[in-house]
Amino acid sequence: MSDLNVALVLGASGGLAQAIIGELIADSQIDKLIAVSRNPLPEHLAERYSQDTFQWLETEYNETDMATVVETLQPYRGCIIRVVICHGILHSETIWPEKRLEDISADALQAVFQANTVVPTLWMKLLHPVLKGPERCVVAALSARVGSIGDNRLGGWYAYRSSKSALNMMLRSLAIEYARRVKNVKLISFHPGTTDTALSKPFQASVPEGKLFTPQFVAQQLCAIMESAEINGELSYLDWDNKVIPW
Ligand SMILES: NC(=O)c1ccc[n+]([C@@H]2O[C@H](COP(=O)([O-])OP(=O)(O)OC[C@H]3O[C@@H](n4cnc5c(N)ncnc54)[C@H](OP(=O)(O)O)[C@@H]3O)[C@@H](O)[C@H]2O)c1
Repeated sequence: MSDLNVALVLGASGGLAQAIIGELIADSQIDKLIAVSRNPLPEHLAERYSQDTFQWLETEYNETDMATVVETLQPYRGCIIRVVICHGILHSETIWPEKRLEDISADALQAVFQANTVVPTLWMKLLHPVLKGPERCVVAALSARVGSIGDNRLGGWYAYRSSKSALNMMLRSLAIEYARRVKNVKLISFHPGTTDTALSKPFQASVPEGKLFTPQFVAQQLCAIMESAEINGELSYLDWDNKVIPW
């Protein structure tokens, strides 16, 4: 077991993920950050961060390859103090958020659920032996307020909304089992607010003035929330302002 304090960012090439990487690397508590992505290490990150403190692992998101990533983390067993799971798609070349019933497609539902629900859940399955240890460890999964069933007044966005609701339910069950088996871990389902990244780009015109956050602001908020979170065996569903979101 290493004596380093390690942070892990999963789905590391996105807009929010890169700001979170910056914030965690700047945190004096954290000795090493490991980032995992489908994509190669972006050049600007390779130039900015030293290989002693920053490692980038490339993987496909199937269980076998993800298990290989977790094997690589074995030297840091019990030393991982922060995990941020950043996976999420809202649109792609072939997927667009549904406005009406006719827009619903099985292929899009499956692709969105795979990225938004299945991949984060597999990480939580595979990571539990390396997260278990004496250190306080806080895991945040990037969810969304539109995953709140109680808060859904507009409808639409069937795949994205329901994949985030399903993510929340997965995390709730995971928190119950982690409370029994991996007691040092706290789980947070986090809503960043509308943030200026590729994911929100096509929808930014309708965002009220002052309500489109920079990724850096959100990353600071999330890191402060993770720092102060109590290890209580429960899942917290929180927004960027540390306010509880109804299920
Ligand atoms: N931006 C917002 O306004 C907003 C609002 C609410 C919630 N969120 C949530 O915040 C998270 C980060 O979003 P972002 O704004 O940073 O978006 P982004 O820049 O588009 O990043 C997308 C992220 O999803 C991963 N990803 C993309 N396609 C995937 C696939 N097919 N399978 C698995 N992972 C995939 C990417 O990881 P790789 O490095 O592996 O490519 C990347 O981390 C998402 O969960 C999103 O739902 C964002």
